[in-house]
Order: sequence, then C-alpha cells, then structure tokens
Amino acid sequence: MYANRSTRLVLGLLSRKTTAAGRSASSGTAVRKLRALETQRHGVTCPSRAVSSSQTTVDPDEVRRFQSLAGKWWDERGEFAALHSMNDLRVPFIRDNLLNVHGARQPGKPLGRLRVLDVGCGGGLLTEPLGRLGANVLGIDPVGDSIGTARLHSSRDPDLRDRVCYRACTLEELSAEREGEEEGAGLYDAIVASEVVEHLADLETFASCCNHVLKTDGSLFITTINKSNLSYALGIVVAEQLLRIVPSGTHDWEKFISPVELERLLESNGFSVKSVQGMLYNPASGAWSWTNSTAINYALHAVKVRDDPDAEESAAHPEDRG
Ligand SMILES: C[S@@+](CC[C@H](N)C(=O)[O-])C[C@H]1O[C@@H](n2cnc3c(N)ncnc32)[C@H](O)[C@@H]1O
Repeated sequence: MYANRSTRLVLGLLSRKTTAAGRSASSGTAVRKLRALETQRHGVTCPSRAVSSSQTTVDPDEVRRFQSLAGKWWDERGEFAALHSMNDLRVPFIRDNLLNVHGARQPGKPLGRLRVLDVGCGGGLLTEPLGRLGANVLGIDPVGDSIGTARLHSSRDPDLRDRVCYRACTLEELSAEREGEEEGAGLYDAIVASEVVEHLADLETFASCCNHVLKTDGSLFITTINKSNLSYALGIVVAEQLLRIVPSGTHDWEKFISPVELERLLESNGFSVKSVQGMLYNPASGAWSWTNSTAINYALHAVKVRDDPDAEESAAHPEDRG
C-alpha cells in the first residue's frame, strides 16, 4: 500500500500507520533462545511483565497497524525505505549532540558505554547503528512481532550482541518499574523517539516518563512531523484523498505536533530544548537533507534539567496537596 518512490514523494516520512493485532510475540525457539542470551549478556532482565498504569501512551489502533508490518522492517525498498535513509541524518544528529555533552568515549566507538533507550524502536533500524557506535541500547516497542524482527536481525551481527537488547513493552511500564528509586538517578544517558510521538495516545505521559527514566543532563532526541498546513496538504489531502496512496484515515493530523507545542510540553516536564532542525525528504532520490524549514519534518534535541517538576511543585506548596 505504500508502494513506490513517487508515493514517498508525497508522504515524505509521514510514518505510515499500518494494521493488525496486539502483542503476539514473535515467538519460536530461536527467538526465546536469543532473548535468554541477551539477558545473560546485558546483565539485565528483560521481562515482558506489564506494569499497570492509569495513563498509557498506547493507541491500540496504532499497535494493530504496526503489527501488520512487523516483518517488513528490513526491506530497504519497502514500506520503511524512508526510515532507512533517514539514518543518514538522525544517526549523526544523535551522535554529534551526545559527543558535545559527553565527549568521545573510545576510538571507533564514540558512544562507548552510554546507555540509550530507543522508544518505539520497531525493527531496530535506528537501534542498530547506535549500538555500532558503541552505545548500550535497549529498544522497546509495544508490538511484539517487531521486537522479534529486531532481535533476529541484530543477532546476525556479532558486534551488536553485547550492546543491543530489545523488549516488548511501553515506556510507562519501564518507568513504573523505577517507582520508589532515587530521583535524578535515571537509568539512561539518552532517549531516542524517532517518528514515534505522532503515534502516541498521550504525550504528557510520554514526556513525564522520559523525565523519570533519564539521568539529569541526559538527552532526549525526537524526530516527528509538524502540525502544519503543509503536512495536512501533503500527508492527508494529497496522499490519502487525491492520490489514494494510502487508505483514507491512515494519518491522524490531530496527533501531529508543532515544534513550539513540543517544546512547551518538554519544558513543563523538566527539559530544556537545545536545538530544532527541519528535515526534508526528496522522493526522487529517496534521500533526506537538513533544511531551515520545520514545516513538515523536524528533529529536536532536549536535555533533562530537573526531575519531575510536579513533584517539586507539590513539595514547595504542600498546602496545594489534595
Ligand atoms: C514510524 S515507526 C518508527 C520506528 C523506529 N523508531 C524507526 O524510526 O525506525 C513508529 C513505531 O512506534 C511504535 N509505537 C506505537 N505506539 C507506541 C507506544 N505507545 N510506545 C512506543 N512505541 C510505539 C510502533 O510500533 C512503531 O514501531
């Protein structure tokens, strides 16, 4: 349905929503063995247990859509082609901003030993190159079959076996597991959520959980689609209604977010936004480039400057507590 290059012309990366069901893990003996190995090597348990949470980022329709594409992540000419080529921009964006903060770690492995969480990792298209740069990366995604695809793919590269781990879960589940732990002692040096926030049910929960699992001074990297007239025209009107490149209703423009709104959300959740850069997809070449305009796609880098501001607020004004 997301067919050829001219299709992607109109869509840029208006991350295709897909279809189908829940969390049927990508089971099979091979996958179970790989998972056990990962647990051993990372010294982390990667349980699938769901921690109850009153607020969730999960939109079940989105999960169903991505479930139907879970086997297609590594087809470089397929539905996710534009995500493959986006690595040319987003990997250096993440690497260089992390190097600015932390300095180079080891020759050839500039992100050596940094702990990175890739939220909504899908099949691991971005997780893997970050692992190759030396980071210890945990990729999470609520779509179990995508996690299965990611595990199998990374298992073929011996360089990744000690660095990349995957888990079928949500950010809020991960965050809930840290309840009661010391504030500021977040687990991760960086969180990456690339082409993900436009698929979430609740951005406030997302931002607050990012704050909770990130170390103070840790970095948050987001790439997403602006909520602009242009993104509506190209993504909804042209792609869905005129050219019928994707079925009507595939993109929910209401879930797109402008850089200004995203910045406001992040700053109210303890982050300081360091940079926002426009990205442009060229459907003819299949390549991405940086642009001054954030009218369609953009990348954002923010740094956690304080812990949960709500907690601080209620500590400062105990009379406000209910
Ligand atoms: C457009 S894909 C991006 C995949 C990957 N980040 C990349 O750029 O290659 C969006 C991903 O978000 C995931 N997703 C949907 N809802 C999510 C949620 N509530 N929490 C985390 N990931 C979610 C989907 O399963 C899918 O893998």
